[in-house]
Amino acid sequence: MAAGKTILEAALENHVHLEHACGGNCACTTCHVYIREGMQNLTEMQDDEADRMDTATGITLQSRLGCQCKIRGDVVVEVPLHNVNIVSESDLLPKND
Ligand code: FES
Repeated sequence: MAAGKTILEAALENHVHLEHACGGNCACTTCHVYIREGMQNLTEMQDDEADRMDTATGITLQSRLGCQCKIRGDVVVEVPLHNVNIVSESDLLPKND
């Protein structure tokens, strides 16, 4: 992912359609992601993000809003299943073979 960009920007540039209902304005939680590796490589959470995160479903200590944190190094991100758009991102859902 590209340093200096938000996770949302990097995802969209790499054709990962991370939901962003408010357009990246910290007014929803549809860009909620789990940081699996590299939390230290993201900008610090600001009060606006923390306040909005309080309204998100399934938050953990690894939760961030993809539109609010900028990348400073390598990170591994997981999109929570409850944030996957079943119509446009069915390839992200577990397969039932
Ligand atoms: S897109 Fe709405 S808070 Fe990130």
